[in-house]
Amino acid sequence: MRLFGASPLDQAGELRRLVEEQRKEKKAFTKLRTIAVLSGKGGVGKSNLSLALSCALADRDKRVVLLDADLGMANIDILSGVTSRYNLAHLIDGSRKLYEVLVPVEKNVRILPGGVGLKTLADLDDEALSEFINLLGELEESTDILILDTGAGIHKGVLSFAVAADTSLLVTTPEPTSIRDAYGVLKALTTSWGSLGAELVFVVNMARSEAEGRDVAGRIQRAAGRFLGVSVPYFGCVLRDRHVEQAVRLRNSFFRLYPACYAAEGVRHLVDGLLGESKGTSESSRGLKAFFFRLTRGSFAGK
Ligand SMILES: Nc1ncnc2c1ncn2[C@@H]1O[C@H](COP(=O)(O)OP(=O)(O)OP(=O)(O)O)[C@@H](O)[C@H]1O
Ligand SMILES: [Mg+2]
Repeated sequence: MRLFGASPLDQAGELRRLVEEQRKEKKAFTKLRTIAVLSGKGGVGKSNLSLALSCALADRDKRVVLLDADLGMANIDILSGVTSRYNLAHLIDGSRKLYEVLVPVEKNVRILPGGVGLKTLADLDDEALSEFINLLGELEESTDILILDTGAGIHKGVLSFAVAADTSLLVTTPEPTSIRDAYGVLKALTTSWGSLGAELVFVVNMARSEAEGRDVAGRIQRAAGRFLGVSVPYFGCVLRDRHVEQAVRLRNSFFRLYPACYAAEGVRHLVDGLLGESKGTSESSRGLKAFFFRLTRGSFAGK
């Protein structure tokens, strides 16, 4: 760097470049954060919210990878209008490289289709798992946040994401069946895993009003406190909004097609919360490596 003798205009430009470089370096050393989106009942809006959250985080200068971790019916590609030919299984068996498996949706949002690869992860021995995680090295460097869109249900496949992620958003709608199943997730986590993971919070989707969102969360919170002895913070709600269905039909995110709609507004509030003060895991427990070890070895919950 040579500031001496340069004109004030050059100096200002050089300083800006240095600040920008330092900002990038700082970013590179901040470990990737994992955020799981899960639910007890199916069809509560996890995939739509995962995609919208990814776009909203990208708007806040985050580089996001959305892992379609639904072991049953993966559908993020349908919702986002992109087509994926390969999935994690191709990466694990070595037939494809990471850049061939990742599908760009827009600047700073890429999809990583999980497919059957996620099922095989649990069966890898330590050496094979380390090899796989090394393959993801490039992902670690080029990503700030990994969003996990999981399948519904109270089974190990879904619950292990909740205990492995740095933050888990447990999504419910105001429907009694959905509320019951959200409670079921909490019960399964506390009884079988002995842990809610690092940070688990409620999100109410398809609420008819903010008041209804708070009311739904309050009901689950009271039951969880009384019968399970756990307290789960309410994170916020996304209102029922016809723009979501319209966007699904057009195979695009409601967040991009209708940025001023109520649902998009709710998603922006959720992102404010996610990027604000968060308990989550400490910086040292973050990162892809730690996440995949927790996911496959259940070490977080001590199982
Ligand atoms: N805020 C909302 N307002 C109105 N409709 C919504 C909203 N969120 C989701 N939906 C609708 O709910 C349906 C299910 O959404 P989505 O596929 O995202 O749920 P899911 O939880 O991922 O389902 P699955 O459990 O099958 O993976 C979609 O048809 C979508 O249009
Ligand atoms: Mg889904």
